[in-house]
Amino acid sequence: MKNIILLGPPGAGKGTQADLICDLCDIPKISTGDMLREAVASESDLGLKVSNILDSGGLVSDEIIGSLIKDRLNMPDCENGSLFDGVPRTIGQAEQLANMGIDFTHVIEIHVDDQDIVNRMSGRRVHPGSGRNYHIEFNPPENEGIDDISGEPLIQREDDKPETVLKRLNVYHEQTKPLTDFYKNLADKGILIFYKVDGSESVETVFKNISDNL
Ligand code: AP5
Repeated sequence: MKNIILLGPPGAGKGTQADLICDLCDIPKISTGDMLREAVASESDLGLKVSNILDSGGLVSDEIIGSLIKDRLNMPDCENGSLFDGVPRTIGQAEQLANMGIDFTHVIEIHVDDQDIVNRMSGRRVHPGSGRNYHIEFNPPENEGIDDISGEPLIQREDDKPETVLKRLNVYHEQTKPLTDFYKNLADKGILIFYKVDGSESVETVFKNISDNL
């Protein structure tokens, strides 16, 4: 059983690595970012509530995230573990997940410098249906602007504008980065394995460094 958390700033490559790790470990990806974007796209009550928060680069409340995760974990595909992509994002969320009884086995921090993140985000393209990520230079699709699997068009995310990326980075440093110490403390007690990888390497090298430790 593997329950893995991917920590790291926006654009560090969490979603990209999450898909590869899920294939390797045969576990589902739980991405609160993807779940919230689906809610916005379907114009559900939740989507209408969180749409402005996502577009502005702020964080959705811990209560909303807790209830999304609780519902998702009740699905049978999570029985043998899960990959948590972009969640938890606050100490409050980490405490909620602990109270749900999830035994995390690995916490992987993907580190990329802020300036590299800003440069990276302008080239990101996303398949809205699946959340699959590409980069026009570093990880391009086979055909420009088209998803490799579905053949559908790729889009640029609203929150990838440079000013919103800067806000997301600030939010990360203030509210999410403290989670590294939170989980390092648990690793020091032998409760889980924590390690940090250099996310500025190629997608393949980052994945090799992650999978060597899993
Ligand atoms: P979310 O979707 O989780 O966004 P994020 O954490 O900001 O991360 P990103 O998806 O932007 O980046 P990533 O690290 O996955 O990188 P990627 O692989 O795409 O959340 C969006 C919003 O939802 C939040 O701002 C918040 O409002 C809300 N939200 C979500 N979860 C929440 C929570 N728990 N609590 C509260 N609010 C929440 O890669 C980025 C680009 O780089 C791509 O183009 C990719 O192809 C490219 N790339 C990847 N790896 C490499 C590499 N090694 N070299 C070069 N390019 C690379």
